Amino acid sequence: MSPPAPAKSDVPGFIAHHRIVPIITMRDAAQADPLVEALLAGGLPIAEVTFRTDAAAASIEAMSKHDGLLVGAGTVLKPDQVDEARDRGATFIVTPGFSPKVVTRALELDLPIYPGVSNPTDIEMALDHGLDSVKFFPAESYGGLKTLKAIAAPYHMVKFVPTGGINTDNIRDYLAFKPVVACGGSWMVKPDLFADGDFGPVEAAVKAAVRAVAEV
Ligand code: 3PG
Repeated sequence: MSPPAPAKSDVPGFIAHHRIVPIITMRDAAQADPLVEALLAGGLPIAEVTFRTDAAAASIEAMSKHDGLLVGAGTVLKPDQVDEARDRGATFIVTPGFSPKVVTRALELDLPIYPGVSNPTDIEMALDHGLDSVKFFPAESYGGLKTLKAIAAPYHMVKFVPTGGINTDNIRDYLAFKPVVACGGSWMVKPDLFADGDFGPVEAAVKAAVRAVAEV
């Protein structure tokens, strides 16, 4: 059984415990409930729903009603979306790049935020805003673990959530690097996996991901 979803002050700990953040782009909010069931059955009670489709906000709202599931909003590009995400029940925010306006709004609303960073300047902007956890994105395209090790070296206080090109083949390598608390990825929840309404492939992919992480 999964532990219950944490209070929002426990979000970083919950993410660090499960070590995988599934990134979901919803085409239809009606698929939110069965997708949650597949995630929970697979053993991964976390969902980052991207603001890349019109179905995002309603999907966040539907998912956040499920006990035991931690729901966040991803691809948050504007401060207004932070408010919308919070109003729909999201309890954490993820961004692809470092937007001072978005970060400031999340901090004002007391929402944990993982801003995207890909270089030392981004990391120092995060530190300037009082953050110590960031998303390294797009991880594989920017040189993967080798690059992450190089840019993490000066910042012993920073924790990373690499995202972009992560899958069951390479996630163990990332997680074995101590500053990495979790990895994000869409590989186990790609829209095409459940386009026909069958969520079995999602559950199977989630189980495989959870198994891969358990071995680290
Ligand atoms: C993201 O939204 O962070 C990325 O699209 C995730 O990257 P992936 O699809 O390669 O996992």
